Amino acid sequence: MAFPTETVYGLGADATQDHAVAKIYAAKGRPQFNPLIAHVPHAEAAFELGEFSEAAKRLAECFWPGPLTIVVPRRNQCTVSLLASAGLPSLALRVPQHETALDLLRAVGRPIVAPSANPSGRISPTTADHVRQYLQLDMILDGGPCTVGVESTVISFLDDMPTLLRLGGLARAEIEDALSTILAEPRAGPLHAPGQLESHYAPSAKLHLNVAEPAEGEVFLAFGPSQHRYNLSPTGNVVEAAANLFRMLHEIDAKHPKSIAVARIPNVGLGEAINDRLKRAAAPR
Ligand code: TXA
Ligand code: MG
Repeated sequence: MAFPTETVYGLGADATQDHAVAKIYAAKGRPQFNPLIAHVPHAEAAFELGEFSEAAKRLAECFWPGPLTIVVPRRNQCTVSLLASAGLPSLALRVPQHETALDLLRAVGRPIVAPSANPSGRISPTTADHVRQYLQLDMILDGGPCTVGVESTVISFLDDMPTLLRLGGLARAEIEDALSTILAEPRAGPLHAPGQLESHYAPSAKLHLNVAEPAEGEVFLAFGPSQHRYNLSPTGNVVEAAANLFRMLHEIDAKHPKSIAVARIPNVGLGEAINDRLKRAAAPR
């Protein structure tokens, strides 16, 4: 089943049941080495599943519920399927903010693993309709369009330094402020988050970035004041742009254009996550 969160729609399964988790990988066509996020209704539930340092706890208390995922070592009594951790000794945890997601988590009474509800390598869904177009499911909870519109920021507390594994809906600066420290960059290795695979968020059309004027036959995705039909934010607001990003890429891609030209997005706040997504979407496949 799929359900809304404030970031993107998730494809959910009982995190404690291996076969349910396996079905998620199958539905996604996802490589087995990409671990999943376990969603819980409050921070205390997360603290029972993972080993939280003082700093990790502080971050959880500052930003949960919200678009933040925290990766910590699994506790011995952790009930989440190891398949969800892709065999790793660590676990990604998140308390989402969306009321429908929280209602679901409280009703189920178990952690729910949920990757974004898109086939691997496709644009993440930000409406129930996107999910319906992608996947044949028995149930999709419709909670309206996602307000944040990009996936959660992923921070790991496995090394000495908190590490930024994926840019996302919570800006880097807010996290660094809360922790009073600079976030480390991940080391190269097999634990890399799939958000770090070069071509991951890909529409079918070719993408051209930082375009001032689109070429003949290209669909333009504007940012800031402009006459163009598709505009991430006419007022030049990066938070609004993040919320619109995947939906507009979906809409444009559905028209099967030869290519999509995207305006330059300022690299501040959520603009950093947007540019990260766009760069991957534009990477050669
Ligand atoms: O906003 C979101 O995070 C959405 C909604 C549904 O919550 N979910 C989502 O899940 O984006 P997914 O599976 O598409 O991305 C999960 C990210 C990946 O980058 C994955 O590698 C990372 O979290 N991750 C999960 N477990 C990890 C672990 N144990 N160590 C390192 N990274 C992990
Ligand atoms: Mg995803």
